[in-house]
Amino acid sequence: MSTPHSDSAFVRACRGERTDVTPVWFMRQAGRSLPEYREVRGTGTILRAIADADLATEITLQPVHRYGVDAAILYSDIMTPVHAIGFGVDIAPGVGPVVEHPFSGRDDLERLRPLDPAADTPYVLETVRNLVTELQVPLIAFAGAPFTVASYLIEGRPSRTYVRTKALMHTDESLWFELMDRLADLAIDSLRSQIDAGAAAAQLFDSWAGALSPADYERFVLPASTKVLGAIEATGVPRIHFGVNTAELFDLIAAAGAEVVGVDWRTPLDRARSRVPAPTSLQGNLDPAIVAAGWEPTRVAALDVLRRGGGNPGGRGGHVFNLGHGVLPETDPATLERVVELVHSTPPGAATEETAS
Ligand code: CP3
Repeated sequence: MSTPHSDSAFVRACRGERTDVTPVWFMRQAGRSLPEYREVRGTGTILRAIADADLATEITLQPVHRYGVDAAILYSDIMTPVHAIGFGVDIAPGVGPVVEHPFSGRDDLERLRPLDPAADTPYVLETVRNLVTELQVPLIAFAGAPFTVASYLIEGRPSRTYVRTKALMHTDESLWFELMDRLADLAIDSLRSQIDAGAAAAQLFDSWAGALSPADYERFVLPASTKVLGAIEATGVPRIHFGVNTAELFDLIAAAGAEVVGVDWRTPLDRARSRVPAPTSLQGNLDPAIVAAGWEPTRVAALDVLRRGGGNPGGRGGHVFNLGHGVLPETDPATLERVVELVHSTPPGAATEETAS
């Protein structure tokens, strides 16, 4: 099936096809580490910046221009759809998503009506359409996975323990599954609208899925994420499924139906490769804290990632170079510029233990 940018290194690597360079992009490449971002971002809430299509377009383009990455990721947030349908979400600087009236019972399901992308998030569609005319590289659509979005709606703010979320799944299964189903539908409608508007790939962020045991993930979360990824399969765009701390879940994360599994820095890519069925591709996994430490440690770690990723020889899963999680605000953009140069100038398969030492 022909989808946008089918011949790009990024889409080809997602599909496990041979590439001449290892493609690279960075989660949170648009954001506070860039002076040009801080300059245009303004002081309002990030949800307002996202709702300004011209601003969101410019911010999405900034890292593409500065770094020369092989893909752009839409400047938006995993909370955009729930915010747009009026659940009462904001994103507090330095904190993350906060919810005025957290989800606590069956009555709250009504606050999660279906998303009508053209009416509820017209600014997202306008941003995507602007971007596909401006960009030379693929644009990645994204959504928050049902579990990670639910964790914010239930806890009301970022959590370490997910104590309320786990209480709901283990004490009121039918309500839990109805909540998962509504959040799956929001993710599906949001992703489809971004892909219809021209996005070339889709990433499902289940950032906090690693808080769950494999048994709980399989029972309480996998069905909803499988529904999301299955619903966009027919679009033909590559699907990336990412979470942090998911080493024990890689097989399930792949089983949900993704061409690409995102790997954080805790698991070497060669080891991750042995835990996913061939020909699943991998995305990752340079430690963002090492990048923030400066060029020399970053160079060594990046070459190790390339070596373990194994390049894109075709015929087995490919490798998309990325960080293991988002760019940290304290990162020097010059270090990321050099990472892109290094990845692009190292022929796939050429990084060896000697080049890394
Ligand atoms: O380049 C990009 O990736 C930009 C697009 C993007 C943002 N958020 C913009 C943003 C993406 C893909 C996200 C996804 C997102 N949002 C996730 C999944 C990715 C991940 O990191 O695991 C999550 C968990 C969120 C929720 C969220 N939004 C958090 C935890 C925060 C940080 C709060 C803070 O201030 O530290 C946000 C805010 C946010 N979203 C920022 C950006 C650039 C920074 C704040 C700002 O500029 O106001």
